[in-house]
Amino acid sequence: MADLPQGQALLDGIERLRRELDAVILAHYYQDSEIQDLADFVGDSLQLSQQAAKTGAKVIVFCGVHFMAETAKILNPNKQVLLPDLDAGCSLADRCPPDQFAKWLQGYPGHKVVSYINCSAGVKALSDVICTSSNAEKIVNSFPRDAKIVFAPDRHLGAWVEKKTGRQMVKWPGFCIVHEQFTEKQLLKLKVRHPEAKLIAHPECEASVLAIADFVGSTKGLLEYVKTSPAKSFIVATEVGILHLMSKARPDAELIPAPPSSGCNCSICPYMRLNSLEKLYLCMRDRKPEITLPEELRVRALAPVQRMLELSA
Ligand code: 13P
Ligand code: SF4
Repeated sequence: MADLPQGQALLDGIERLRRELDAVILAHYYQDSEIQDLADFVGDSLQLSQQAAKTGAKVIVFCGVHFMAETAKILNPNKQVLLPDLDAGCSLADRCPPDQFAKWLQGYPGHKVVSYINCSAGVKALSDVICTSSNAEKIVNSFPRDAKIVFAPDRHLGAWVEKKTGRQMVKWPGFCIVHEQFTEKQLLKLKVRHPEAKLIAHPECEASVLAIADFVGSTKGLLEYVKTSPAKSFIVATEVGILHLMSKARPDAELIPAPPSSGCNCSICPYMRLNSLEKLYLCMRDRKPEITLPEELRVRALAPVQRMLELSA
């Protein structure tokens, strides 16, 4: 990478390429702060898919993980969609292979299939509707009360939605490797040390963690809660990238990242953090890695994504 610009020249290079390519840079809240700072739009999974659906840009540069960029491609067959690192996967998507999922579904005839957006295009294509953590309750409630429902691939989000809707669903046993690290035991310890703090958690956390949370919401929901809450201290049980905009919005507040169960760095998503400013520059310069999809698969995956967008409008 000898010819890679450094410092301000790197930022200037990204800016120049953004103009030359007529590109929009979309970033998730879990991206490094310097990526969030230069993105055209920063949001949660639903907001990012809504932005991807309406952008007029010719090229979409997705600073997030593979399933997010793939969803942008599903919505935009005629635009180029770039992902700075093609290895930016997701434990939920990676552990729900479409062939195994199709076989598993055969055991549940007559069920409606609701899939969390954190899945591959192959799994989306087998689903009736897609949801995100911010609209899952609404999407499940869009079915009649007696409908039989399969929910995949996050068992914790599924259990949370069951609790909120009073429905029972069949759940694929997937989980997020980042959110599963938070434990009730450690969070209770933190709550004792900070009795004034509000514990806020993402619904990908285990039920025992969600049960002691003052608020449960998607990344956007958590950010909005911190922005509008009169509280001055928050224990945040999600990927630490969200603290960047939280601290900008509430410089007066104390933000305490939830500790993972060991001394590791596991409240940092190892997939999300594969992206970097350098890889962002290179993917725009070289116009790769690019997301591609067989058209037949894209069309099958599009219908449940569109249904979600309609139900979320
Ligand atoms: P949201 O963006 O819906 O909050 O989901 C968080 C997440 O883990 C994305 O992979
Ligand atoms: Fe997937 Fe969890 Fe990373 Fe989100 S935080 S991309 S759910 S592994």
